[in-house]
Amino acid sequence: MSYASVLNATASLLACLAAALPVSCLAQATGPTQPKMTTPAAAAPSASEPAALRFDLIAGSLDHRISRLVDQMTLEEKVGQLVQVYPSDTELSEETAALVRAGAIGSLFYPGKREVVDDAQRIAKEESRLGIPLLIARDVIHGFRTVMPIPIGQAATWNPELVEQGAVVATEEAIAEGIDWTFAPMIDISRDGRWGRIAETLGEDPLLAGELAAAMVRGFQQEENGRIRGMVACGKHFVGYGFSEGGRDYNRVSVSQIDVHNTLLPPFERALEAGCRTVMTTFSEVNGLPGTAHAPLLNGVLKSDWRFGGVVVSDWASVTEMVAHGFARDDAHAAELAVRAGVDMDMCSPAYSGHLVRHVREGRVAEERVDDAVRRVLKLKAELAERETRAKEWAPTAASREVAREAVRQSVVLLKNDGVLPLAEKKLSRVAVIGPMADAPKQQLGCWALDGRPDDSVTPLAALTERLEGKAEVVYAKGAKNSFAADRSRIEQAVDAAKGADVAVLFLGEDAVLSGEARCRAAIDLPGVQSELLAAVAETGTPTVVVLLAGRPLAIGPDLPSAEAVMFAWHPGTMAGDGIADLLFGDANPSGKLPVTFPKDAGQIPIYYNHPNTGRPMPEGFRPLVGSGLDDLPPEFQYRSHYLDVPATPLFPFGFGLSYTSFTYSDLSPSEQLTAPYGESVSVSVTVANTGAKAGAEVVQLYLRDRTSSIVRPVRELKRFRRVELEPGEAKRLEFELAPEDFAYYDAAGRSIIEPGLFDVMVGGSSLADLATAIEIQPPPTQVATGAAGEAPAATTSAKPTASSSR
Ligand code: NOJ
Repeated sequence: MSYASVLNATASLLACLAAALPVSCLAQATGPTQPKMTTPAAAAPSASEPAALRFDLIAGSLDHRISRLVDQMTLEEKVGQLVQVYPSDTELSEETAALVRAGAIGSLFYPGKREVVDDAQRIAKEESRLGIPLLIARDVIHGFRTVMPIPIGQAATWNPELVEQGAVVATEEAIAEGIDWTFAPMIDISRDGRWGRIAETLGEDPLLAGELAAAMVRGFQQEENGRIRGMVACGKHFVGYGFSEGGRDYNRVSVSQIDVHNTLLPPFERALEAGCRTVMTTFSEVNGLPGTAHAPLLNGVLKSDWRFGGVVVSDWASVTEMVAHGFARDDAHAAELAVRAGVDMDMCSPAYSGHLVRHVREGRVAEERVDDAVRRVLKLKAELAERETRAKEWAPTAASREVAREAVRQSVVLLKNDGVLPLAEKKLSRVAVIGPMADAPKQQLGCWALDGRPDDSVTPLAALTERLEGKAEVVYAKGAKNSFAADRSRIEQAVDAAKGADVAVLFLGEDAVLSGEARCRAAIDLPGVQSELLAAVAETGTPTVVVLLAGRPLAIGPDLPSAEAVMFAWHPGTMAGDGIADLLFGDANPSGKLPVTFPKDAGQIPIYYNHPNTGRPMPEGFRPLVGSGLDDLPPEFQYRSHYLDVPATPLFPFGFGLSYTSFTYSDLSPSEQLTAPYGESVSVSVTVANTGAKAGAEVVQLYLRDRTSSIVRPVRELKRFRRVELEPGEAKRLEFELAPEDFAYYDAAGRSIIEPGLFDVMVGGSSLADLATAIEIQPPPTQVATGAAGEAPAATTSAKPTASSSR
């Protein structure tokens, strides 16, 4: 959707405002679905009416102030509040200024320049009739000037406090630029590494994503006494975008109601519990309805069941894109469908500005619905107006860099280590630094670094060179033009660099442009000639350490034998070099754990840890037929759920990550099966010990399996996690309190249910955790269990009497 077309439509709204005409001058109407006509009202108040009380002069409670404003607004001004525009101007154009002055724009994107925002905001506050400020929006996704690791990298920290700190840093920097509203956190669950936007997710698990999303919301919004002191967060994309078919962006989403309720909605519910004020719809068509007109999810689940009182914003032009979907006849119809389904604000499409006034005048859309949307927007503005202004500070600062560096240290996942790491600095005299990601200041920032500056980046090459100065020689060879180039001409130089070096550290992976929105890949292996580069370097016999900088899980199985050690660093942001160097030399101990399953081959997708079982689960020891040398599979592997050419297991499981030390788990309590009364909490404890020689942090994970239930349930589900720091030889006893709702699930109608019966509890350092016990939940006192399996319930009971039970 071009800026010009949005502006044109908004300008027609302006024309009506200025001329105080009925809206017949707006964009041509479509065939009305409800041909009831109303008498058009005057668009602007007449001169004889009392002067309007302006936004900043209205006193009283938030509700009172909003009602007072709404009462004074013309229909055109109301619709203006629901229009969001991107001013592609380098300075505020007269056209945009006029729209702001007329109250025809409610929210403006920050275009990368503070002056534009200041001008627009001044006009809105001082020159528009009601003085209503604009909401200034920007995608501050993983940092602003100080760029943090991409969200999936932050998820690998499994550390909500650190994620919150990163969001605080981003907020301080963004607010100083006049930004009020960020479009984060993205909490789409994805099980598909082909999808470029997996980079922006918080992984495949609803609990982990929900907790980290809540942390981001806290960091962005910084609420005090129920009022936002930071910037407004936006949970997106409601809901299902991460299930885009085939991992291709914007594609259709076909997802079961069971997954909608158990997998997709819970992280949103968690973010809203944390106070997230806005929600963005998904571009996708979900089970037949575009997300932007998905009344059952928007009006139904979000606004009615969950009583969400914030703003629902469409995604960019997703209102008018419903025409291309074949769902709306034209833009006017799209506007009607979206607003009626619960979309309050139209992001960058000409639909609301061009057609909403007319829809109300002609009775297709109730004015009460528009008032409701306007109230939601004004509530945010009134809340934000109470904030103190923040002084602009030059960024990155030493403090913001330190948060970013710690985020790098904790987000890197050590996937393999034959003992070469940590590097012993004193034993090195020559280090070869190789690879297209070693000195790529822009690429290391990742997919959503609109305001991050490559000049601020510390690249791995820079950090290693500085660190080894005067101690060892650093020889650098790029090895390939970029991560995906087909040209092999630079490999030889890299081989030369590796020869005679004590170690070759290869920085490989994906340029930032290979992940993010509309950046999907069908194959998810190392792109370009990088596998050949690695193999050629390994051939030299120099020990090789591979550090992967990428926006998605990579199927690097074939590359693993060429590397003595492999670290997965995602796109680490501004402080990539220093954070990675800290880990390579052992100043920090890797503690990152995978927030997403790594497949062996893209053909295994979707592959995820919390899958339901088939009736023919794979017996231990399965090996694919292809490459086995056999003529057919042994009988015990026949007629099982598998591929003939790729193993059934992932390359690395969810929750996995190595350390320079080792951890053991013991004394799980209850040690034997425990019978727990229905509706009561159960305590599980375990001892975790650092049995190695280095201090380290372990992410302790607790999983539950519902053995038998009324619908087929996942083989295990993450229920608790905790990051624990342990000195060498130290042990800590951890206790986890499992609440009744931890044993619940949602049925296809969205009702939360606890079924009595047996639950396995597994605790450990990854989703393969096998220290196990069991808890039997007794039937409620009034129930007599008659389930066929002996464990299934006679009836079900709502676990959470509030929002979740009424889905
Ligand atoms: C489209 C993306 O899907 C969304 O996540 C983003 O916030 C908007 N564009 C605004 O840039």
